[in-house]
Amino acid sequence: MSSSDNAASCRWHSYSTTAELEVAAVRAILLAAQLAISRRGEFHIVLAGGNTPRRIYESLRSADTDWSAWHVYFGDERCLPADHSERNSRMAALAWLDHVAIPREQIHPIHAETGAEAAAADYMQTLKGIEQFDLVLLGLGEDGHTASLFPHHDPGNTPDEPAALAVHDAPKPPPDRVSLSANRLGAARQVMFLVTGETKRQAVQDWRNGASIPAAAITPAGGVDIYLEAGLLSSAGKIQTC
Ligand code: 6PG
Repeated sequence: MSSSDNAASCRWHSYSTTAELEVAAVRAILLAAQLAISRRGEFHIVLAGGNTPRRIYESLRSADTDWSAWHVYFGDERCLPADHSERNSRMAALAWLDHVAIPREQIHPIHAETGAEAAAADYMQTLKGIEQFDLVLLGLGEDGHTASLFPHHDPGNTPDEPAALAVHDAPKPPPDRVSLSANRLGAARQVMFLVTGETKRQAVQDWRNGASIPAAAITPAGGVDIYLEAGLLSSAGKIQTC
């Protein structure tokens, strides 16, 4: 079921089971790829970290698509060694990227092992020349964070903000991270939030009630699509603003 407050900002897509949500997300990702490749010959996608997208990434292994046209970026990364199991790049590689023929030079991990400042500066070079992403995938944290944009931290949504931010004292371990700014994540043709788990209920309710949680700072021209479990909407009340 889908509902939206107005055409431009938030479209809420709720599914009765996590499995249904994951199938719908895979379908939407592959449709976005097909459109981008048919129109521009390339597909530029930004990956979400955390646990929610893992099974979606695993499902993409068997996708029928032109992998040679995919360009993969990360919305954020944790300042851990490159082969650390808690790295978002490691999660995506094990679940999907190591199993498909995307040219290695078209997969762009954030080198967070070099430290937040150095990695953020390096990633801004990587993003140079990429005007708009075709699709940005994002998660939602219990406190309303997304990527590594946390409450009481600068979300990076004022015009002259750098595209990648060094993040310290993050409330979700590890404390040092790198995140694309809200502006940069919003420079996208499509933005999809993937939200599962009872722990996200308050953040969903706050978002629908117009609270300025970090996730609400992602405001692409075309609005955002939020894929969530129907159960998370039950006490969320009528959409106020987004
Ligand atoms: C990270 C993520 C973070 C994540 C949310 C949701 O590196 O931790 O980028 O923003 O998407 O915390 O995490 P789960 O999907 O594990 O609930």
